[in-house]
Amino acid sequence: MKLAQKMKRLGTETAFEVLARAKELERKGKEIIHLEIGEPDFDTPKNITEAGIKALRDGYTHYGPSAGLPEVREVIAKYISDTRKIKVDPDEVVVTPGAKPIMFFLIISLVDEGDEVIYPNPGFPIYESVIDFIGGKSVPIQLREENDFRLDVNELKQLVTPRTKLIIINSPQNPTGGILTYEDLKGIAEIATKNDIYVLSDEVYSRILYEGEHHSITAFSGMKDRTIILEGLSKTYAMTGWRIGYGVMNKTLAPHIARLMTNCNSCTASFTQRALIEALTGPQDDPKKMVAEFKKRRDVVVKGLNEIPKFSCLTPKGAFYVFPNIKKTGWESKKLADAILNEAGVAVLSGTSFGKFGEGFLRLSYANSIENINKGLDRIRKFVEKI
Ligand SMILES: Cc1ncc(COP(=O)(O)O)c(C=O)c1O
Repeated sequence: MKLAQKMKRLGTETAFEVLARAKELERKGKEIIHLEIGEPDFDTPKNITEAGIKALRDGYTHYGPSAGLPEVREVIAKYISDTRKIKVDPDEVVVTPGAKPIMFFLIISLVDEGDEVIYPNPGFPIYESVIDFIGGKSVPIQLREENDFRLDVNELKQLVTPRTKLIIINSPQNPTGGILTYEDLKGIAEIATKNDIYVLSDEVYSRILYEGEHHSITAFSGMKDRTIILEGLSKTYAMTGWRIGYGVMNKTLAPHIARLMTNCNSCTASFTQRALIEALTGPQDDPKKMVAEFKKRRDVVVKGLNEIPKFSCLTPKGAFYVFPNIKKTGWESKKLADAILNEAGVAVLSGTSFGKFGEGFLRLSYANSIENINKGLDRIRKFVEKI
């Protein structure tokens, strides 16, 4: 195969690879505890599923506008206006199949070859992958455990150059569960406005927060027009397979992102979009229950990890991941993650799946039952006690 050169620069999400390896082991009869994949194990709330079924019956089975159905863009605009304390119009919203395409489309539409993009590392691997793929320069900012995995605003200042086009932030964060404080966001906003830099604010975990309230950088003076919010329903409403997400951006940019949608997907599935209306405007008891359950699991997993010799783990404030430090084991992260899968039967990810600064850490997703989490922790502990 004579693939295009740029395919060498396209990365991936290791979670899907580890899932495939774990499934292969299961096919061979091995029982695996899954703590690798980042998706809620709950069913989609029934009222949302019913709305989707009704939409199918009502004939929402055809193409729609590339930017999204007008009534859906309206609901999203109101939801973001209410939750982010900013004024958003429907024509500032583009609906996409999952939130991920917003990452791809936004980086393609803003970044020229050689433009620099600062992104969190460890961080969601697709940021670095897409920046490199399109010929941009990916500039990692290290998230340090001693700083609760928040980025250091002074360090960010030093990474900015005249070629910096975009800063990517993600709070609550995958893979560390860390959050950016109000003060952090204020500092980032000052840097962005002073240096005329755009911000991609990945807020897909905004509702999976265990203390305090979610702050969006868009609320700071001068930020609404230079920020693109990336949001979706996958995590909050356990809707990963429905593929529904959206971006909120200024009116000038939105038609370009919609044009990329026309080139790529034509539109997001119409019945899925109709289900979004029920999700955002219907009862919110189910997502609240899910967060309460995640919080219980978080406490179990953090306690259990801290009881494993040579492991230590911070208590994350959001999302459903933990990022334990395994440096004292003396093992490389990837080797330890592989051994834990093959020998202990627990699928976890190496911290390096989230970039080079993830060395010395593992990532576990606690989107699994407390029973399975305890079983997994027990197996990891027994394995680590032997090494
Ligand atoms: C930080 C982050 N952003 C975006 C996404 C994409 O979510 P989706 O495309 O399912 O909406 C994920 C999914 O794992 C994520 O962890």
